[in-house]
Amino acid sequence: MPKTALIDTLSALLGPGGVLTGADTEAYVQDWRGLYRGQAAAVLRPASTESLARAVQLCAQLRVPIVPQGGNTSLVGGATPDASGAAILISLARLNRIRALDPVDLTLTLEAGVTLKAAQDAAADAGCLLPLSIASEGSASIGGILATNAGGNNTLRYGNARDLALGLELVLPDGQIWSGLRRLRKDNTGYCLRQLFIGSEGTLGIITAAVLKLVPKPVQREVALIAAPSAEAVLALLAALQRADAASLVAFEYMSAESMCLVLRHIPGVTLPLSNAAAHYALIELAAANQQAPLRALLETQLAAALEAGLIEDATLALSDAQRLALWRLREEHTEAQKRAGANIKNDVSVPVSAVPAFLAQATEAVRALIPTIRVAPFGHAGDGNIHFNLVQPPDMPAAAFLAQTDALMQAVNDVVRGFDGSFSAEHGIGRLKPGQMQTWRGGPELDLMRRIKHAIDPHGLMNPGVLLPAPAET
Ligand code: MLT
Ligand code: ZN
Repeated sequence: MPKTALIDTLSALLGPGGVLTGADTEAYVQDWRGLYRGQAAAVLRPASTESLARAVQLCAQLRVPIVPQGGNTSLVGGATPDASGAAILISLARLNRIRALDPVDLTLTLEAGVTLKAAQDAAADAGCLLPLSIASEGSASIGGILATNAGGNNTLRYGNARDLALGLELVLPDGQIWSGLRRLRKDNTGYCLRQLFIGSEGTLGIITAAVLKLVPKPVQREVALIAAPSAEAVLALLAALQRADAASLVAFEYMSAESMCLVLRHIPGVTLPLSNAAAHYALIELAAANQQAPLRALLETQLAAALEAGLIEDATLALSDAQRLALWRLREEHTEAQKRAGANIKNDVSVPVSAVPAFLAQATEAVRALIPTIRVAPFGHAGDGNIHFNLVQPPDMPAAAFLAQTDALMQAVNDVVRGFDGSFSAEHGIGRLKPGQMQTWRGGPELDLMRRIKHAIDPHGLMNPGVLLPAPAET
């Protein structure tokens, strides 16, 4: 079928506003980081799962590749089409209804295009908490979050996106709808198929709706920012807090001096509420769903003991909601600050929690051996071992020269990660950025099984081609 006939047929299937072409596709074909720019034959904006299924069925019959896209916040180019213009991009933005919320079951049933922030708000309105929090939550949407198995700030307490999903609704590559929106906490009925699709980055099908677990809304939240002389001291404080009350510790985020400096320099209206700058910082959040838990006292006692033991140099506790948000802003603006600071290279890696200090030291040494003036700006989710070991263009080096070193710098970091039996992709996924590393890290039976699953579910390789799995030539 010629391209114009395909677009006419899709327009008839999806109705008004359902198909964008030409200049209207601009916002969809470039990734947030500006690393990838592609082209799409058209952007589809289905308003129902059924109309999406009909469009996918047509694309499958005509062997047209499909790129699903949520809030377009991928940090690895996972939702950007290639440059050929052959693919149809499917934006889930109009599938944005909250279908049900059950405060007894503690479940939220919602469509893929609902932003994480809107989902959190819906849960809060019902006295519940959706315990997933990521910096891009205002734009990132549930379908993309599940497709990439996003992690974020609360993983140490509540797990990653996959731990919160009880059920999924999907459009499969042949256009069939799988309605698996179950709300069950126990369901031992063979292979757990939903977990295959979570983290598959749109390569096996399109998530159109989900059932997510909620928890009772905390009535107490305590947030503190601490300054520490060493990464070892930061980890010792984490261990002390876990010993004191692991159940109330919902976030333990690390920020290096360099990364904090970039936030203070590039983000207007942000200040450091401590007397002096330090080499290392951590943001701590404790929460409880009952009024009786002595959270403030617990945190004050732990921080006083840490100060006494020399584990921390300074600390500030948020005394109001405004202060709590201001402390969190200091953490959540790191990605934006690094973007404004110049070209940057992201290493979204994880190591066992206990190895974080040694990893930071060894990885810093490894990248400085390549570029002595490099700005090493790590931060991240120390409580679960996921560090964003991000590297920023040195002031004395043009962006292009710095970026030309990307492979060597990533390799240097990954060699250190390997020494700790860590992962080269902790929470952002593989996308278009890292398929070339899959053979090295997941080769053998693991990659072979992945390819066989891909072939069984998407035999014509139409779903998000070029993402996650390496092309045969790359293996
Ligand atoms: C974050 O935790 O803020 C993002 O995942 C990190 C990044 O930009 O590397
Ligand atoms: Zn992160």
